[in-house]
Amino acid sequence: MEYIGATGAPVTFDSVPIEKGINFHFILGFAIDADPSGNAQNDKFSPFWAETLTPNSVAAIKARHSNVKVLASLSGWSVNNKVIRWYDPIDHKLWISNAFSSFKSLAITYHLDGIDIDYENFPRHGDANNSSNFAHCIGELITLLKNQSVISLVTIAPFHLTVKPYMELFDRYGEVIDYVNHQFYTDKVLTPQSYLEDFKLRASQFDKNKLLPSYEVNGRGIQDVFFETLRLLEKNGFGINGIMIFSADAAPSNNYYYERKSQDFLNNSISI
Ligand SMILES: *[C@@H]1O[C@H](CO)[C@@H](O)[C@H](O)[C@H]1NC(C)=O
Ligand SMILES: *[C@@H]1O[C@H](CO)[C@@H](O)[C@H](O)[C@H]1NC(C)=O
Repeated sequence: MEYIGATGAPVTFDSVPIEKGINFHFILGFAIDADPSGNAQNDKFSPFWAETLTPNSVAAIKARHSNVKVLASLSGWSVNNKVIRWYDPIDHKLWISNAFSSFKSLAITYHLDGIDIDYENFPRHGDANNSSNFAHCIGELITLLKNQSVISLVTIAPFHLTVKPYMELFDRYGEVIDYVNHQFYTDKVLTPQSYLEDFKLRASQFDKNKLLPSYEVNGRGIQDVFFETLRLLEKNGFGINGIMIFSADAAPSNNYYYERKSQDFLNNSISI
């Protein structure tokens, strides 16, 4: 899985190398309940990903590669420097029904196969209440989207500061969540051994079979020992069922080295 479009750079799907034999999921970053100034729009999600990633280009990349699926990610960190937070809807039912219609229309327009949940900021006060509100609203939303066959894939993207509300979501609605794209690059682990320890922790908080190792191109956390780390995870009994990369926007700078090598790695793990 690879995030794409979040930096506003004029990226395209076409330049990303896609190999046969494994599933390739693009995650559009981000669909946000906000106007361009960051003001909430009553559960109306607007696309804030690069304008080059048009509905036609989604249809084209899927037509060219039958192994490609496209998801849109909800929220992200900020829009035009304004931090986006999960807020507490007073009327849960209304939030769920508005969010459902809004995402459904986005899914139809952009030919989407799935949704990724990436709220990264939560209200500071009353942690416990707020997180249960998040789990309920998002859990019901993703359940409904799958039940009504709007989408077939759901992923979530916790990072070290948001593990708690995501664990609650996963505990209650794990059945409809396909993958956990934990942002390991935020966990400040720099060696294969410490990545392994961290992976064990996150596997205990979520589900080891749904948890994907992740990598940030030119980013934080582990860099050139990433593949050594994957082999260490395998040696310790973790099946690598996928890899999440952030993001295609940065990848042209090294000619998609990690995208190519990740697909080789997965293809080889699958064939043994
Ligand atoms: C949707 O939910 C209804 C009621 O629980 C259930 O009968 C039906 O099988 C579900 N459909 C899908 C596609 O999950
Ligand atoms: C993936 O594995 C299959 C079977 O081993 C092989 O034929 C194919 O060339 C591989 N593809 C890539 C991109 O490595």
